[in-house]
Amino acid sequence: MTPATGDKGQGDELMSDATKRFPLMATRLMPEAVEARFRDEFDARPNEEDTPLDRKLLIERAEGCHGIVGSPTERFDAETIALLPESVEILATFSVGCDHIDLEAAKARGLVVCNTPDVLTDATADTTILCLLGAARMAQSAEAVLRRGEWGRWSPRGMLGTDMTGKRLGIVGMGRIGQGVARRAQGFGMEVMYHNRRERPPEEAEGATFHADAAEMLPQCDFLALTCPLTDETHHWLNAERIALLPDGAVVANTARGPVVDDDALIPALESGRVAAAGLDVFTGEPKLDERYLKLENAFLLPHIGSATIETRNAMGFRCLDNMKAHAEGTDYPSRVA
Ligand code: DGY
Repeated sequence: MTPATGDKGQGDELMSDATKRFPLMATRLMPEAVEARFRDEFDARPNEEDTPLDRKLLIERAEGCHGIVGSPTERFDAETIALLPESVEILATFSVGCDHIDLEAAKARGLVVCNTPDVLTDATADTTILCLLGAARMAQSAEAVLRRGEWGRWSPRGMLGTDMTGKRLGIVGMGRIGQGVARRAQGFGMEVMYHNRRERPPEEAEGATFHADAAEMLPQCDFLALTCPLTDETHHWLNAERIALLPDGAVVANTARGPVVDDDALIPALESGRVAAAGLDVFTGEPKLDERYLKLENAFLLPHIGSATIETRNAMGFRCLDNMKAHAEGTDYPSRVA
């Protein structure tokens, strides 16, 4: 596929002296168009080998840098943040999720942290629908039959999934991505509900019904989409107790973070058919995952590709660079979280 250069972000117009004098390291190789702007516009320290950096390497490479473009493949925990060279003023993560960063430790050290909201909403909402639909129609195991050369004659009973049309969808986490899922689900003729810390104003609820109490919503969810951030409160949110509240044969999708699901609860529920199918784009311990999932025909599995389109990854990278440019030039950050 040809890399689309697309919009280059706000920093498109002029290279400034301030950014040219700004030593900026990136922990991973970014999409071509982003990498080109990074090297053009900044005093760039790329990671040519694209190796994930452990704490030691990260600290070594950050020496003398003012900024780090990081990603969810590194952990910026309190200890790492405390060890960062004094020169480092800002961390821009190539993600909307910040669960790999100790934001309190960053604030305490005076480290500015920026992320990439908005630009990945549509791609990730699309992936959530892909997970719901892929699971409901058992797309992966059906395709595997074909690839193994085992496709027999068409049969009225063959490879039966379940419709999304006319079903009830519950969304856990009604942020931008949850709202995107609600909009799309209505196109499938679904009735949409959501559970969120706070009720959304009508213009952000997308016609979905709010449930302050998840225990009230879950028994009505033929489909359940997890789109919430990973926090202490959402860790293992989908546990055995909540699975027991779902109707028999519900379909679950997780495009949030792996640990939002308790694998020891979901896997037996998939094995027994109590949960009919699951579409999972994220896993605890990525890139490893609980191998029991690989044996389940009713698990539709993707390797964390929620935001993985050229357009979206370019926009995420440009957002990181725009945040860096704002820092170097002393203007407003497009998206600062700490
Ligand atoms: C995000 O932006 O948080 C995506 O999940 C990529 O990690």
